[in-house]
Amino acid sequence: MGDQNRDLFTSKFGVIAAAAGSAVGLGNIWKFPYIAGEYGGGAFLFVYLGFIIVIGLPIMISEFMIGRKAQKNAFGSFKALAPNSSWRITGLFGVIAAYLILSFYGVVAGWSFHYAAESCLGNLVDKTPQEFESLFVSFIEKPILPVVWQSIFMIVTAGIVLLGVQKGIEKYSKILMPLLVIILLVLVVRSVTLPGAEKGLAFLFKPDFSKFTMDGVLNALGHAFFSLSLGMGTLITYGSYVKKSNNIGRTAFQVSMADTLIAILAAIVIMPAVFAFDIAPGKGPGLVFITLPNVFQQMPGGQFFSVLFFVLLGVAALTSSISILEVIVTFFVEEFKMKRKTATLIAGSTTALVGVFCSLSMGVLNTSVFMGKNLFDTLDFFASNVFLPLGGLLIALFVGWYFGKQRTEEELSSGGRFKVNYINVLFVSLRYIAPIAIFIVLVYGIVENLEIYLELDIMPW
Ligand code: PHE
Repeated sequence: MGDQNRDLFTSKFGVIAAAAGSAVGLGNIWKFPYIAGEYGGGAFLFVYLGFIIVIGLPIMISEFMIGRKAQKNAFGSFKALAPNSSWRITGLFGVIAAYLILSFYGVVAGWSFHYAAESCLGNLVDKTPQEFESLFVSFIEKPILPVVWQSIFMIVTAGIVLLGVQKGIEKYSKILMPLLVIILLVLVVRSVTLPGAEKGLAFLFKPDFSKFTMDGVLNALGHAFFSLSLGMGTLITYGSYVKKSNNIGRTAFQVSMADTLIAILAAIVIMPAVFAFDIAPGKGPGLVFITLPNVFQQMPGGQFFSVLFFVLLGVAALTSSISILEVIVTFFVEEFKMKRKTATLIAGSTTALVGVFCSLSMGVLNTSVFMGKNLFDTLDFFASNVFLPLGGLLIALFVGWYFGKQRTEEELSSGGRFKVNYINVLFVSLRYIAPIAIFIVLVYGIVENLEIYLELDIMPW
C-alpha cells in the first residue's frame, strides 16, 4: 500500500510543528479565552482538559493511524482500508468540511492581517471603546478591503501548499511555530506584569462551578474538536506523510498537549490585560478586534505589543489554513489525478471565492441563508456543529468497531517497534465514550440552534 515517492515529513520536529500548527489557530487565540471565562474559568479548563485526554487524544491517534496505514488522502484512506464499503463517505465529509471551514477562516485571518497592518501604521491609538467598535464593524462590512486582505491571506496559504509537504508545509511550520511560541511568551510576560493582572488570572483559573452549566460541558467538547483539528481528515492527511519510524501515539499526545498549553497561554495574555484595564471581557471576535486594541492603546509599549499580537494571530491562522487546504489538494491530486499545481489553484481559488461571499455576507450581502444566519455564520455552524462532530463520530466507530484492535495495535506499534500499552483504554474510548459523547453534542448543537431560531424551549437544561 505504501507509496515510495510520497512526499513525507522529514523529521519528528517537522511532524509536530505541522500538526501543532494545524491545531493552534484562531480557535485557541480568540475563542478559547472567551469561552473559558464565560463558563467559569478553572471549571471549564478542568472539563476541557478531560475531554482532550479522554476523547480528543483517542481520535487524534486514530486519524494519524488511518492516514499512515493507508498512505492516502482523507477519502482515499477509507477507500483503501475499507474497500467496497460506504466508509469512504467519512472522508468525503472531511473534504466538504474543509471547504466550509477554509471559506470563513480565510475571512477572519484576513481581518487579523488588516489589524496587524493598522497597528504598524499607528492607526489603532487615541480611540474610545465605541470608536474601536465602529471601526471594526465598519471595516468588516466594507465590500472591498476585507476581501483584499482575505485574498492576500489565501494567496499566501496556497503558495505554501503549492510547494509541497517538505518544502512548503514542513519548512514553514518549522519556522512559524517557534515564532508563534516566542511572540506568545513575550506577550505573556507583558500581560502578567501589568498592575492588576491578578484579577484576570483569578477569573481564568479560579474554578467557579456555579457558572458551569450543561452548555459549558457541551461547548468544551465541541471546542476540543475544533481546536485539535479533528473530524475532517486533516490529521489523516498529515498522518499519511508520517514515516513508519514515528511513534504516532506519542506524537498525538505531544500535539494535543501543545495545543492545550497554547490555548491556556493565549488566555493568560488576554484576560489579565483586559482586567488590568478594567474592560469587560467581550464576546467572540469582539474580544480580539475591539477589546484588545483598546487594551493595547492604554498599555506602555502598546503599539509594539499590538503588532506582535496580530502577527501572532495571522501566523496561527496561516499554519491552520494550510492544513485545511492540504486536505482538499491531496484529495484532488490522488482521486482526480491532478497535478499539485492545478489542484492547489482550483482548491485555493474556489475556497477563496466562497470566502468572498462570506466576507460580503457581513455587509452588502447580509441576508439570511439558513435559519436566519448569513452565509458566514451558516458555514461556521455546519462545519463546527455538524461536519466535525459527525466526522469524529464516524472515525471513532470506524477504528473502534470496523478496523479493530489488532490492526490498530500493529500500526501504532510500527510493527512491534513501540509499546502500545494504552490500547485497551484507547478502545474503550473509541467504542463507547467518544461515540456517545459526540452524539450528544451533535444533537445538542442542532437542537439548540433550532430552539433559538424557532424560539422554543425544548431542552431540559
Ligand atoms: N484547529 C484550528 C483552530 O483552532 C482550526 C481547524 C479546524 C484547523 C479543523 C483544521 C481543521 O483554529
